Amino acid sequence: MLSFVEDPKGVVRRGYDVLSRAYRADDADDGVYADWLDMLERRVEPGSSVLDLGCGCGVPVARRLAQRYSVTGIDFSAVQIERARRLVPKTTFVCADMTTLRFPTESFAAVTCFYALIHLPLDEQPALIRSVAQWLRPGGLFAASVGHKAWTGLEKDWLGVKGGDMWWSHADADTYKRWLADAGLRLELEKFVPEGAGGHTFVLATR
Ligand SMILES: C[S@@+](CC[C@H](N)C(=O)[O-])C[C@H]1O[C@@H](n2cnc3c(N)ncnc32)[C@H](O)[C@@H]1O
Repeated sequence: MLSFVEDPKGVVRRGYDVLSRAYRADDADDGVYADWLDMLERRVEPGSSVLDLGCGCGVPVARRLAQRYSVTGIDFSAVQIERARRLVPKTTFVCADMTTLRFPTESFAAVTCFYALIHLPLDEQPALIRSVAQWLRPGGLFAASVGHKAWTGLEKDWLGVKGGDMWWSHADADTYKRWLADAGLRLELEKFVPEGAGGHTFVLATR
């Protein structure tokens, strides 16, 4: 595990271009996301606008959300977006860096961001959370997976894919909770989801 990287976002974007299919099959099931999507569906009116940040190939999150909502998926990997457009038709997918997005305030009833915030440099993460709070309508939901323990690192040939280098930067769970509160988001639920020797914190917060 290497920690210094000159262009971390470039590593992440190129990495997902290379290992998109190794990360997620076209027909993957709802897996670890199922409970969170269930909760969201119980709380968010059908027909609402939902934003999925770092949507990947659209499976399973946008695929499931698109059955009830008007979904906008954002990802900066051209390969992920190309797959998402094919796998989840009639949904809007935009190939862009999520930190460059601009939406009118109160545009969305919910924003999801699974396993993607942790690919931003740490100094960009609180600003993105503040933007999410502005884009949400009052009472809107933010469902995300964030870090559990603080660490930053690069893994070469991630998932065994040659050239599929990957980079992450996690703050610890308490820091994410502070960033949510500072942005005006109220934490409703938090759950540690183990993975290998570590894991992630899933959060559900309300504006
Ligand atoms: C681990 S994948 C998760 C995909 C999807 N959210 C899921 O959970 O199935 C992370 C995704 O976030 C995207 N991503 C990372 N940083 C991004 C950024 N700055 N802007 C847009 N997308 C980004 C990557 O390209 C990748 O597709």
